[in-house]
Amino acid sequence: MEIPFIFGKVAQSNQFINREKEIKNLRLNFESHINTLLISPRRWGKSSLVNEVASQMLQRNKRIRFSFIDLYAIRDEQEFYQAFTTAVIKATSNKWEDWVGNGKKFISKLIPRFQFGIDPVNDFRVSFDWKDLKQNGEEILNLPEKISIEKNIHLIICIDEFQNIAHFEDPLVMQKKMRSAWQKHQVSTYCLYGSKRHMLADIFENKSMPFYKFGDTLFLKKIGHTHWVDYIIRQFNKTNKKITSELASEIAGRMENHPYFVQLFAATVWKLTKTKCMKKIIDQALDDLIEQYSIMFQRETDSLTNKQLNFLKALANNVEKFSSKETLMSYNLGSQGNVKRIKVALENKEIIDLWGNTIEFIDPLFNYWFKRVYVKRY
Ligand SMILES: Nc1ncnc2c1ncn2[C@@H]1O[C@H](COP(=O)(O)OP(=O)(O)O)[C@@H](O)[C@H]1O
Ligand SMILES: [Mg+2]
Repeated sequence: MEIPFIFGKVAQSNQFINREKEIKNLRLNFESHINTLLISPRRWGKSSLVNEVASQMLQRNKRIRFSFIDLYAIRDEQEFYQAFTTAVIKATSNKWEDWVGNGKKFISKLIPRFQFGIDPVNDFRVSFDWKDLKQNGEEILNLPEKISIEKNIHLIICIDEFQNIAHFEDPLVMQKKMRSAWQKHQVSTYCLYGSKRHMLADIFENKSMPFYKFGDTLFLKKIGHTHWVDYIIRQFNKTNKKITSELASEIAGRMENHPYFVQLFAATVWKLTKTKCMKKIIDQALDDLIEQYSIMFQRETDSLTNKQLNFLKALANNVEKFSSKETLMSYNLGSQGNVKRIKVALENKEIIDLWGNTIEFIDPLFNYWFKRVYVKRY
């Protein structure tokens, strides 16, 4: 029997829950050609949400096309342009041959080279000569609008893991190029999304940054507790296993309603459950998961400086006033300025989430493991 929970992949069809308001917002933005910036910590469901909106819109509107570009593995401008062109061609032509015939209309200053994989119809990549590309990147950035107009379609460009633009040699220059091309586009629409809230919020909301006021900014939240409880019960029932709403609530609660970890934890509990879930199975599942991930967590912790580690110990002990003299002393955190730097570093490593006045471990499982190892009371 298949595990009725999904994690590590985009959630779709009956494993995609809630997000009704967000779907509506995003769809309305797309239909209205409004660019959107979607931000949340990693694994809260951005990719799943955009994917869901795309599949709903594709079913309803024959003139819409979506192009997905993931910056996860892209480190420089050249790779970006190549991935961008490949994604745009794939979304707007049935076959690459169509494109070769038409391509000159859209790109005149650059000569694309096609490399083929196992399935030459769908599996291909475009590359360009770097020297030409350096001069004519703008042509590539304008491709979506040109193609949209020529083919009378509405192309929506979705760029995932947008925070990775920080790895480019000159991120600011790249952002300026993107912004100056895309702000002129009337038909094609852009959805940029990623994690590292402060960094992305800065890109989009800081007046001195190129993407300032580029579009509508949405901060995605976690999924509400009651949605999780209903979902967990439903998925157990479907596979002829039983769970009470108290225990389903316990699963979501222990993972703080974190989308990825609720799914992972529910899958682990489900595997240990023969017919009826019990509290001791949930305890066991948590122990198993912590054990399973402990090497990874240990490695992550090994990469921290002593002061960063001390900061996490204070956080694990529910300290709230990190800059008080007492905390600085008892956890050996150095100066107040030091605490600021520690916070930024831990946020950049995506270990903690700083939002408003709250500081939290991003990953609830890491939180449990950390407390067991370093606080011992747990
Ligand atoms: N709407 C949803 N319904 C159910 N599970 C979800 C939903 N959104 C996200 N998840 C869970 O969270 C995981 C991470 O989602 P993903 O969309 O990849 O997040 P992000 O793009 O923000 O990193 C998914 O694999 C799934 O387990
Ligand atoms: Mg994602």
